Amino acid sequence: MRNTLIAALTCVSLTAFAAPPASTPALLAKGKASYGTNCVPCHGEQGHGDGPAAVALNPKPRDYTKDTLKNGDKVEDIFKTLTEGLKGTTMVSFAHLPEEERWALAYHVTELRKAGGAGTAAAVPDAGTAPAKKTGKAKK
Ligand code: HEC
Repeated sequence: MRNTLIAALTCVSLTAFAAPPASTPALLAKGKASYGTNCVPCHGEQGHGDGPAAVALNPKPRDYTKDTLKNGDKVEDIFKTLTEGLKGTTMVSFAHLPEEERWALAYHVTELRKAGGAGTAAAVPDAGTAPAKKTGKAKK
């Protein structure tokens, strides 16, 4: 009985750690601002992997508005990537940032993915809704 209780409690606390906070406008704004400082140099403003520093990288940051993410693309998956980094790439751990900021960043990445149509276009190819080519977005 006691062990069951302990096991149950352990479960609860593990889940609590992995549970993202509610996405609020304030949190999203924070994520966007932090992304601008910490991520744009490599990932680019819209997450296409075309930041000014990306040219020099190997492997290059993928376009996370449409490419599959290795660690998964749920907010908690991206949080994990931010906390641990990706081995063998220049994607380092951002564990030095406060936990709330990492959640905010994770939300911002999912927003960029949505804006880029990730998940919908890939799941339904040729649905006739998603534009096949990149439209003439300003390229610097
Ligand atoms: C020094 C360049 C650099 C910086 C700065 C950087 N990244 Fe990355 N990032 C990479 C590279 C390289 C990869 C690995 C290639 C890839 O899969 O995109 C990557 C991968 C990722 C992935 C995909 C992980 C997966 O599961 O495939 C996410 C999400 C991500 N970065 C988010 C961020 C966020 C958010 C920030 C800012 C806090 C950030 N990165 C800062 C270079 C960078």
